[in-house]
Amino acid sequence: MIPAKAPHSSSHTASLEAYHERYARSVEDPAAFWADESAALDWFRPADQIMRFDPITAEIAWFTGGKLNVSYNCVDRHAAVDPTRTALIFAANAPGEYRHIPFGELLREVCRFANLLRELGVKKGDRVCLYLPMIPELAFAMLACARVGAVHSVVFAGFSAEALRDRILDAGSAVVVTANEGLRGDKAIALKAIVDKAVLGLDVVKHVLVARHTPAEPHMVPGRDQWLADGLGRQRPYCPVEWMDAEDPLFILYTSGSTGKPKGVLHTTAGYLLYAARTFHYVFDAQPTDIHFCTADIGWVTGHSYILYGPLCNAVPSVMFESTPLYPDASRYWQVVDDLGATILYTAPTALRALMRFGDEPVTRTSRRSLRILGSVGEPINPGVWRWFHDVCGDGRCTVVDTWWQTETGGILISGLPGATPMEPGSATLPFFGVRPLLMDADGREVHGNSSPGHPVSGNLCLAGTWPGQARTIFGDHARFVQTYFSAYPGYYFTGDGCRRDENGNYWITGRVDDVLNVSGHRIGTAEVESALIEHAAVVEAAVVGYPHELKGTGIRAYVVTRADMNASAADLQAQVRIAIGAFAMPDQVILVPGLPKTRSGKIMRRILRKIAEGEREQFGDLATLADPGVVAEILDLCVGL
Ligand code: WT7
Repeated sequence: MIPAKAPHSSSHTASLEAYHERYARSVEDPAAFWADESAALDWFRPADQIMRFDPITAEIAWFTGGKLNVSYNCVDRHAAVDPTRTALIFAANAPGEYRHIPFGELLREVCRFANLLRELGVKKGDRVCLYLPMIPELAFAMLACARVGAVHSVVFAGFSAEALRDRILDAGSAVVVTANEGLRGDKAIALKAIVDKAVLGLDVVKHVLVARHTPAEPHMVPGRDQWLADGLGRQRPYCPVEWMDAEDPLFILYTSGSTGKPKGVLHTTAGYLLYAARTFHYVFDAQPTDIHFCTADIGWVTGHSYILYGPLCNAVPSVMFESTPLYPDASRYWQVVDDLGATILYTAPTALRALMRFGDEPVTRTSRRSLRILGSVGEPINPGVWRWFHDVCGDGRCTVVDTWWQTETGGILISGLPGATPMEPGSATLPFFGVRPLLMDADGREVHGNSSPGHPVSGNLCLAGTWPGQARTIFGDHARFVQTYFSAYPGYYFTGDGCRRDENGNYWITGRVDDVLNVSGHRIGTAEVESALIEHAAVVEAAVVGYPHELKGTGIRAYVVTRADMNASAADLQAQVRIAIGAFAMPDQVILVPGLPKTRSGKIMRRILRKIAEGEREQFGDLATLADPGVVAEILDLCVGL
């Protein structure tokens, strides 16, 4: 345990006691608590009812009757106070290249973009697909959608054409926004060409807007494609906002689950924005003097909540980082921190593991004096990595917050609070205000109390009640929403994570308990990778499992059975996944096997395949139930040396 750093006079949580007091109030009367918090937003019309929640039908609603606009809350109201205050800082791929965007300019850019969307016929409730690199136009586009009441569906620019196509179709997006190219280190990614492939023959897509980010001249389809700058050039920099109902959809973000088809997680207006804003305020102890640097990509939920909406709603300048932690070298994050005077750095354990390999020098050659808070997100942070983050990156001076949450939760649910919560390397520590975690055993019974010597308390992590940032549904498939999250433990939301509660009530996330892998902090469904593999003509069947990987946390291993009359190499099959999903989901290992271990009824015994991937060579339990027990030895032979 490491004591909390001393709070300062403007800390939002003065002590652990202050946290406990506020927490108790927040769970005893969540409606009263969130009604008070909702004063942080500007409302066009106040809410009639604070919350409604039915865990059986998964009907969730916050602040019904209230009207507001997200773009107004993140831009207009701050521009009105001080149009020169920095809103966004674009940190380009090229080291040392920055663009500061003040609120006044942001407002004009968002208005122009919003007017362009209206010119293209985009109306309230329409879905707009954003397939963009980390450039300011992505932020403008999201806020412009929010301004006119359109629903953005940001697709991470690392997804392949096929994956993009699926997401465009599922959301029914008539407008796609992209860039000619994206830049990552010394690589250029031809995003427009990927969009062309994705929308080929799709009638739904009427317009493709292309931001010019590099000198590249992509193919433009007349009548469908236009340069973003041309479209924006025709627009006035003023656009009235659409006053939205609290429960109107704000965005869809696709995430992986235990089936082959990604889920379009839907978030709505008031609850999501309030939750992103208030978690940002408390967890990062946001101050007017802060400069926030979240290294994530906006294509994932971390970027939605803690690059864009959380910081901007709080008027805290936020960095959009286009590059990678290793470009041009392992000092890049710290260089950006020094160049911009960043006070908060929010990153992922996988990036820290990659940086740690280069030793302390790339860190210690920079000053980092401006930093006061370090955040971690995406996967459990190993205590050794935590200490390096705290001792070396933060010079032992900064608070470290390990923040646990999910795409579906909209914002942070478990985390320490600076100046209040004692730090426990490896634990996300305590629930945020209004959040009620509980642990369930295999029989669906709640496990009460804290661990005690010899009696660890652990189980599947569930949540009781609701919080404003909770996802409302899966786009177009509410039954799947109910089934996925509210059926395993009736009455509660099931997270898919395993967890332990220690002697002091701290929560330790132990990882996914479902068929979802956490690879470099990204969620990848094993079923999704399997269905990608099976699309290959030579593949008969495939089973995908995770295994411990030094850098990625979890590596992906695919066991694949191919047709005897067709040739497919491991590299061909890796390429197949790259084409179907994207490079980030590519199996690290593809093992061509003669068969898979199956029960006599034909069920693949993944447990055995997982054990083999984890390095087990002998202890597989009873193999007598297998249809062909010999296959295990054959697979083991093929895995020698991996
Ligand atoms: C899954 C959610 C939340 C934004 C990034 C990922 C894992 C997330 C932590 C953490 C241990 C964590 C969980 C969770 N996870 N943060 N601090 N400690 N595990 O969002 O893609 O929706 O993935 O990431 O397994 O369920 P996501």
